[in-house]
Amino acid sequence: MKKKIPENFIFGASVSSYQTEGDNFYSDWYDWEISNINISETCGMACDSWNKFNEDIQLLKELGLKYYRLSIEWSRISPTPGKINTSALNHYEKILTTLKENDINIFLTLQHHTLPDWLDHGWTNPNIEKYFEQYVSVIAKNFHYLVDAWMPINEPGVNCTFGYFFNEFPPGQKSSLGYIHASRHQARCHYAAYNKLKEINPDIPVGFVKQLIIFRTLKKTIINNFLLSYYDYVFNKIYLNIFRKGNLPFSIRTIPDIENSIDFWGLNYYTHKWVSSKFEGNQTFNFDPSVEITQTGWEVHPEGLLEACRVLWNIKKVPIYITENGIATDNENQRKKFIYEHLKSALAAIEENIDVRGYFYWSLMDNFEWCMGYKPKFGLASIEKNTLSRIPKESGYYLGRIAKNKELFFYE
Ligand code: BGC
Repeated sequence: MKKKIPENFIFGASVSSYQTEGDNFYSDWYDWEISNINISETCGMACDSWNKFNEDIQLLKELGLKYYRLSIEWSRISPTPGKINTSALNHYEKILTTLKENDINIFLTLQHHTLPDWLDHGWTNPNIEKYFEQYVSVIAKNFHYLVDAWMPINEPGVNCTFGYFFNEFPPGQKSSLGYIHASRHQARCHYAAYNKLKEINPDIPVGFVKQLIIFRTLKKTIINNFLLSYYDYVFNKIYLNIFRKGNLPFSIRTIPDIENSIDFWGLNYYTHKWVSSKFEGNQTFNFDPSVEITQTGWEVHPEGLLEACRVLWNIKKVPIYITENGIATDNENQRKKFIYEHLKSALAAIEENIDVRGYFYWSLMDNFEWCMGYKPKFGLASIEKNTLSRIPKESGYYLGRIAKNKELFFYE
């Protein structure tokens, strides 16, 4: 089946600094890898994008993708509190300028899962809002003339869940109170960043990037229904309510106008989760054995993308960009099918008059997948082990053709 895609719908690929740049010595994740026995592989050089950014740009061009979502590593800009590393700042300026010279539009994330290592206790640090605002101000003043869209924080909630529930991200504290504090600080930091970015350049849209998980249950028992609402509340609603009611997470307190601190939704969508009262390991999540599983153990559920668009649209009617969607697999047919099915869902959302404006595949190339190391292969290109050169995959060319022709088609 072929389907026309609106002319103004944009296509791109996403990466993050820590996962691709390499050698981010001043990041909390760097310390975490060294001190954590559960980490199988360390990040090391990653894709060496810090030095090989020209190759990343050539790769985007080779695939025909005109939008790039990348992030700045706060700890590179500010390796010690209050100090700015001007050579890092200049280097990022070079990366962004080269993107522009190559006609690639820039969606810039300011914090993607990692924090500077000097920020004790991570997101619960009482001064984080002040420090974050200072950092955002430096970036905005220096780069606003190059950036097409800002995203202050990637996926508020995800790093809180992993950092304060599951012990998979720093600071690795099992603490519900920590989770509550961290999520409130993330909301405050988003708001402070929004205002700062708008003060410096009101014309650039600022988005809120949410990873939305659709929770489902096979059996509608009282316990399962309770768990369903609990997970949906803790993982999704407490962040979405910021923009519905202006509430800070887990609070009836509001900050004036916080509900309007959003020009677009960034939607990161990967999978759904079956909630069940039967414990699997330490989680109440279950699997449906008949459903396709990826290298990360996630079920493929493209219809969830349409559902996720509806959820965001019902909260706030601002444009939606799918800022991440991808699959970890070595099978290129599986990746192409995944892209095809998810784009179909995005087009279905547009048919329902939901303002979906674009699609960024995660990720431009295989990279460091946090606690899972280098095993999951999400990329549209692989990285050659010895030379670290980028080798485009079939799926990369496939997405590029869809982007160029503005037509969705499937082939094997
Ligand atoms: C994160 C990425 C990560 C991807 C796949 C997203 O939640 O933003 O950093 O690599 O999921 O797990």
